[in-house]
Amino acid sequence: MLTEIARAKLNLALHVRARRPDGYHELETLFAFVEYGDVLCVAPAEAPAFQITGPFAAALAGEGDNLVTRAAARFAETFGGGAHAIHLEKHLPVASGIGGGSADAAATLRALAGLHDVALDDPRLFAIADGLGSDVPACLLGGTAIGKGRGERLEPVAGMPGTPVLLVNPGVAVSTAEVFRRWDGVDRGPLGADPLAGRNDLEAPARVIAPVIGDVLEALAAQDGVTLARMSGSGATCFALFEDAKACAAAAAGVARFGWWSVETTLI
Ligand code: C5P
Repeated sequence: MLTEIARAKLNLALHVRARRPDGYHELETLFAFVEYGDVLCVAPAEAPAFQITGPFAAALAGEGDNLVTRAAARFAETFGGGAHAIHLEKHLPVASGIGGGSADAAATLRALAGLHDVALDDPRLFAIADGLGSDVPACLLGGTAIGKGRGERLEPVAGMPGTPVLLVNPGVAVSTAEVFRRWDGVDRGPLGADPLAGRNDLEAPARVIAPVIGDVLEALAAQDGVTLARMSGSGATCFALFEDAKACAAAAAGVARFGWWSVETTLI
């Protein structure tokens, strides 16, 4: 049996550059990952089995088809390896901009690759990831990276390991496709030399769909010791980076009264 952590993905910056003829958008983004995530256990079995538990299990339970089972099916088509029993402990909110489903799919591929001696840099594994979703290749790589194209053209860069992070989600699921559809089409320029000085171009359209995102960002920005407060991906999860863990803990206590989901963690 192999256990993998499907760590939450953050877009520390996300610049939308153009709408493409294929319906996707050309991006420039800085991907980073935090310690916190879903937990995935994979073991060889007589027949395929999938079980989901954990605080956000209900959002996915009953869906026969999900990114984990799809990842396992694609892996078996390409590499064989027989059937597997997969247990997913769901800690990340679903459809929330921190790559929960993508992280789970990537963790499934990593676990199966580990069980069947497939190298993690095998281009066939990357091709499966790319076919499952725009963020899955970044989650397969799993480290800080600049992403271009749909997010699949990846260039690893130095991260800021140990930086305290507070994740906050106000409990509204927003559709990624809908947020992209509402982007105003204005190219506000590339990621600069310091991507953290950039922005998330999906914040404005996501705030139209879920105005509470503005409340979250305002609450985070008002905390002591915050170095950056921004929305991740297409939302609604927002994050704040802090000078130290004490400031992060104080901020977690500070926003607790709103009743939003929140987690204190660190960048890897
Ligand atoms: O690739 P994925 O299936 O995760 O994307 C979900 C939806 O988000 C796409 O169908 C598309 O509408 C939108 N999207 C986009 N541009 C990207 C990534 C996603 O328009 N770069």
